Amino acid sequence: MNKRFTFLTACLLLCVGTAMAAVNIIPKPTSVVEKEGEFVFTKGFTIGYSDVSLQPAATYLQEVLTKATGLSFKTKLGKGKVQISLVLPDENDESYELVSDKKGVLITAHNYRSIINGIATLRQLLPPVVKVQYDVPAVTIKDSPNFHWRGLMLDPVRHFFSVEETKKLLDEMALYKLNKFHWHLSDNEGFRMEVKAYPGLTSDTVAWRRFNYHDRQCLDRASKENNPSMLLPWKFFKEVEGYGELYGGFYTQEEICDVVKYAAIRGIDIIPEIDMPGHNGAACYCYRWLSCTQNGVEPLCLGRNTTIEFAEKVYDEVFQLFPYEYVSIGGDEVNRRRWSECSECKKRIESEGLKDVSELQAWFTKKMEKYFNAHGRRILGWDEILEGGLSKTATVHWWRGDHPDVTQKATAMGNEVVLCPFTFLYFDYAQDDNTLRHIYDGDIVPVDLTAEQLKLIKGMQANIWCERIPTEARMEWMVFPRVLALAEKAWTPRKDQNWDDFLPRLQAHLQRLDAMGIQYRPLQTKRP
Ligand code: ACM
Ligand code: ZN
Repeated sequence: MNKRFTFLTACLLLCVGTAMAAVNIIPKPTSVVEKEGEFVFTKGFTIGYSDVSLQPAATYLQEVLTKATGLSFKTKLGKGKVQISLVLPDENDESYELVSDKKGVLITAHNYRSIINGIATLRQLLPPVVKVQYDVPAVTIKDSPNFHWRGLMLDPVRHFFSVEETKKLLDEMALYKLNKFHWHLSDNEGFRMEVKAYPGLTSDTVAWRRFNYHDRQCLDRASKENNPSMLLPWKFFKEVEGYGELYGGFYTQEEICDVVKYAAIRGIDIIPEIDMPGHNGAACYCYRWLSCTQNGVEPLCLGRNTTIEFAEKVYDEVFQLFPYEYVSIGGDEVNRRRWSECSECKKRIESEGLKDVSELQAWFTKKMEKYFNAHGRRILGWDEILEGGLSKTATVHWWRGDHPDVTQKATAMGNEVVLCPFTFLYFDYAQDDNTLRHIYDGDIVPVDLTAEQLKLIKGMQANIWCERIPTEARMEWMVFPRVLALAEKAWTPRKDQNWDDFLPRLQAHLQRLDAMGIQYRPLQTKRP
């Protein structure tokens, strides 16, 4: 080998090495102190955990490290070169500390979830791409989140996503410390959760469908733009006797338990949503007696007790499958006019002394809330549940960005709010080259709240409605990299958010997304 080549190669490796060692954590941690040196990963070292409750976290860490480095590692209860340790157990303290030096890495935290946050940071300290050796820079990181609720909502109704695709999204969420996965499991276009009491909901012609308007739009775009990510995946087609090829799918209860467990290992809670009383055309189509007109058109008829019994039995199974205390009733965009034309609903309004159809929805929400509470759960719904009156203990998802007073009103009444205004956080909305900065610099938390009201803001989430997102590839394009901006908005206090500091870290992360095979939208592109 000639000397000039060797010298250049050495310089290059040194430069690459230095560049790789840069600390580019998203979301930005509370404090990072960089030191001299690094910890080099060698084959076969041990991941130690301080408490049996951390065993799933150690196995998860083993998996992600092996995936990132190609090396194998052992796990053991006790001491290891990479160590995860619980200190002063406290379920509510989400802080963690990560210390690395040439001898090893130590992550300490007060509970399982915070250890997972430390693991996310460790994953991001590793070089994004394969290089000569795997190391993490010597560093001391102290960190804790601004908001407890940092979420994503996925809609597998408008287009279905498999268990594997859902798990991949959960993995990606964990890398960026997103800890709430809101799963929209029912709507007009299909019912996605197996309900043993009502098997018709996931039968061939309810969980599967003929092409609708949006399906055809996706196919049109696929052909006009020569864009395979807009094609409906073959794997979700099924030949149904008397109907031909139908499109859709559902999750069995076993699959749901598997996803819930997978999420829990990654520190993620799942909030299931079975939308009621509107947005449930699939259920009304299946069980005609559910709707006012008995012709399969939503919303649910709230005048009939059979509807209430249906709701309770469906939620009974939801409660059995999903351990997290929050369950969403949806409650958005209800066509309440139908109730004013229904004799049963009119009777209910009269017998309950209600003023109008808005109060009828509020009556239903409150009744369901009592039912949820009796089963140890808390109710959550889209911001329309405020209309007609709401109990103080319900939590509101503020989605209507064009109703800026919603958060002001809800928090003034003492209700907790999760922010997901469509003006910033609807990730199905078209993007342009300014979208990322619009999210990052935006005042997602309304600026006119008092300190008392601010305490009622639980956090924020982005919603991925899937009418125009038929594939995982399209989902990744719509979600990445803007989800990294969401992660930082939710984790890092507003005063520490700085676009000029964020952008270079984001650019460094694009290499990481490439290595993970995520088909993100490049920062500059003409395509929406
Ligand atoms: C919604 O976007 N209808 C919650
Ligand atoms: Zn009715």
